[in-house]
Amino acid sequence: MEFKRHRRLRKSLAIRELVRENSLSAKDFIFPMFVVEGENIKKEIPTIPGNYHVSVDRLNETLEEAVECGINGVIFFGLPEHKDECGSSAFDENGVIQKAVRKTKELYPNLWVITDVCMCEYTNHGHCGILHGHEVHNDKTLEVLGKVALSHVKAGADMVAPSDMMDGRVAYIRKVLDENGYEDVSIMAYSAKYSSAFYGPFREAANSAPQFGDRKGYQMDPANINEAMREIQSDIEEGADIIMVKPALSYLDVVRWTKDRYDYPVAAYSVSGEFAMVKAASRLGFIDERAVALEMLLSMKRAGADIIITYYALEASRWLRGE
Ligand code: PBG
Repeated sequence: MEFKRHRRLRKSLAIRELVRENSLSAKDFIFPMFVVEGENIKKEIPTIPGNYHVSVDRLNETLEEAVECGINGVIFFGLPEHKDECGSSAFDENGVIQKAVRKTKELYPNLWVITDVCMCEYTNHGHCGILHGHEVHNDKTLEVLGKVALSHVKAGADMVAPSDMMDGRVAYIRKVLDENGYEDVSIMAYSAKYSSAFYGPFREAANSAPQFGDRKGYQMDPANINEAMREIQSDIEEGADIIMVKPALSYLDVVRWTKDRYDYPVAAYSVSGEFAMVKAASRLGFIDERAVALEMLLSMKRAGADIIITYYALEASRWLRGE
């Protein structure tokens, strides 16, 4: 009888490691951080356990940990003191993100500092742009996004990451940055960002839930994949340097399609709900947190992600070095 003996290559750890196709490393991760106004604050976020709301004066503690873990990149989300109709504290030179970026670049000039460019944390209605009635007005929002991105870059951000899903934001932000002499600053576009229930824990953490309606008029329908390819195509044409698929776990097919079709670096954002599910199940004793989390992150690499944005960045880095 003739058949293939695939198990030959699984006989021992040595051979398994020799034929292993994908791997995970701290170098793959971007660590999301939530910066709050105020002083002496380091408060655990209930919906994203092990992650913190941190004030600028105590940012050094978390940054030191991240650097010590071997993390190359952080992405900042801000919780401002003041919200209004047009999210004006998002582009304030002394806004929470702008201060955090300046401090971080001062302490760790080699750390890659990314900022999330969006308005939902800064508007009193919680939508990602300027409202016209109950609709987010695309082109008016672009003007604000341009200001927000420029203010982040002036503070020293290495890369901006627009997450609003307005049309034309990459082109608009690219134009604003270029006109101001920031041709070297890159854009990581949340290109295929789905309207997902997996963002729940983040919206609690960032106090950014929409006060009415939902984000289905700008974020993508979870049923679609061709549309994701069109979004990505546009973002590349508009000047994106890195493209992102978000969420990650339920959208690994989208990650794979993206990697197969576009020769651009792909980031997968393993969002708050993915993290929270593993945390909660492990607290109930239903799963082995460490094994499941690492398996999930590895699946994103296997799907084709070059970069993984994850709330597990620090923990996973420690696990990977055997701690
Ligand atoms: C801002 C933004 C969101 C997330 C990242 N940037 C929330 C949203 O779109 O409602 C979600 C991240 C997460 O769930 O981890 N627009």
